Amino acid sequence: MHFQWYPGHMSKAKRVMQEDMKLIDVVIELVDARIPLSSKNPDINQIAGNKSRVILLNKYDLSDDVQNQKWKEYFESQGYIAALVNSKKGDGIRKVNDAVITACKAKIERDRKRGILNRPLRAMVVGIPNVGKSTFINSISGKASAKTGNKPGVTKGKQWIKLNKSIELLDTPGILWPKFEDQRVGLHLALIGSIRDDILNSYSMSLDLISFLTTYYKGALTERYGITESEDAVENLAAIAKKRACLLKGGELDLEKASGFLVDDFRNAKLGKVTLEFPPETESEAQGEENDNSISE
Ligand code: G4P
Repeated sequence: MHFQWYPGHMSKAKRVMQEDMKLIDVVIELVDARIPLSSKNPDINQIAGNKSRVILLNKYDLSDDVQNQKWKEYFESQGYIAALVNSKKGDGIRKVNDAVITACKAKIERDRKRGILNRPLRAMVVGIPNVGKSTFINSISGKASAKTGNKPGVTKGKQWIKLNKSIELLDTPGILWPKFEDQRVGLHLALIGSIRDDILNSYSMSLDLISFLTTYYKGALTERYGITESEDAVENLAAIAKKRACLLKGGELDLEKASGFLVDDFRNAKLGKVTLEFPPETESEAQGEENDNSISE
């Protein structure tokens, strides 16, 4: 799935989301667990204002178990209620209800003091395209198909999906745009398949991936392709091309084709569960704050 952003789209999507914010209590933000930073737009903090916040590390079936836990702790240290979910299979989905209630506990308490009991919490799902918003909404609501929305700014009459007696979900997710602050972000989004391959050359993309894997996931290439890993990324790619019989007409190695294989294998977790980004050191002073609005990125 591909997307492209133009300034007009962005400002319209942002306006719509800001309007929708007035209707809700809690923002459920999805990021891709393989690239939690690159798949997260920090502008959401400004858009969400003081709403309660839940962050879901979606597609955790594709990412590294150790890093999943670290990322969960990291986001919790930043004031989020965080959870790991696999929206496609439904793993972790049931915990999201609890996460929403925990995130809103200050609000529930305020309501209780004012004598307002059992008022359902209203939630909205947000995230960049392809992060799994529609799949998540379908999964949590048990519906066959939620409205998919890669068309930013499309508004229809607001519809609410009643998840249970405590939570209602806006059926159209809020679409954020990826923030290309540095080249890494573009590279990572391309590697997971969220932006068009031809924006980045697949050969150079695969060399970056190989360098990353041979540094942080030693043995992953050996396991998949039976090659001896070297420190030279091009050598590794050539070895993969040889093993996969990627040859040009004259018998020369077809490194472009091998790059394609490698990137596809990465996207389908055939190189194992790999996380491309590691959390920054968590800040101890951010922990234990009794404030439901303490998102501090
Ligand atoms: P969006 O609304 O945020 O744009 O994302 P959408 O739900 O359309 O999901 C984008 C792709 O990610 C879909 O794959 C979907 O199946 C997949 N996906 C969503 N959640 C998960 C998850 O937790 N784990 C895994 N492994 N994949 C997930 P697709 O290739 O576009 O479609 P399909 O082949 O699944 O039909």
